[in-house]
Amino acid sequence: MTDLYAVIGGSGLYSLDEEFEIETAELRDTPYGQTSAELQIGKWHGNPVAFLPRHGRDHQIPPHKINYRANLWALQSVGVSHIIAANAVGGIDSRYTPQVLGLPDQIIDYTNNREHTFSDGDNNQVQHVDFSWPYSGTLRDSIKISAQRRDIDLIDGGVYGCSNGPRLESAAEIRKMKADGCSMIGMTGMPEAGLARELSIQYAAIALVVNWCAGIEDREITMDEINHVLHQGVGRIRQLIDETLRQSYS
Ligand code: HPA
Repeated sequence: MTDLYAVIGGSGLYSLDEEFEIETAELRDTPYGQTSAELQIGKWHGNPVAFLPRHGRDHQIPPHKINYRANLWALQSVGVSHIIAANAVGGIDSRYTPQVLGLPDQIIDYTNNREHTFSDGDNNQVQHVDFSWPYSGTLRDSIKISAQRRDIDLIDGGVYGCSNGPRLESAAEIRKMKADGCSMIGMTGMPEAGLARELSIQYAAIALVVNWCAGIEDREITMDEINHVLHQGVGRIRQLIDETLRQSYS
């Protein structure tokens, strides 16, 4: 089977760029419902790629309402073998300062009430997939090499804690997550990574730190600061993804 890479866009990344030559763009119906947005398939700088913004094209779907199962199912149904996910996160670890790009290697799931598995006992056999290393080692390696080639700073490794949202955390919740070993907190890493594993899709996430987590600084977190950092960081994410695709298809 030939490889097909997909990009799942997070906050701030609702499209690739104007050089993405879209061949098809369709809302997809799956046994689990409809995708968050039209699934775009085409060529980006000559490389085949599928693109799906998980919050919808206008960021209208909050993290807990995203139909992760429909999104992942649709990606697999068009032949996607690898997913590069983009995620905005808050930083906890001192390395994860705002503006930094990180490549998590572990995950802790703090979400609740999300449809988080294809193995729900209804129509298939119960499956207990291995999730010891939630992110694909080979895909992480090619993202690391790509960052070096493009001279993009990237923190290698870290624990992504996934909170339910959409509110941010309390300072005490962040203290607890820090004690658990979390380096960064986002709201969309799960069940996405777990579902990708159930479908045997290679999956890695590029995390952009857009704020310090609650209570790390003695002040409130504002959406203005988050949006400002997102705006500044999204170009680096596009460059990194572009280089990873070039490497992977060469
Ligand atoms: N917490 C959870 N998710 C986030 C944050 C945060 O501080 N910033 C961006 N996504």
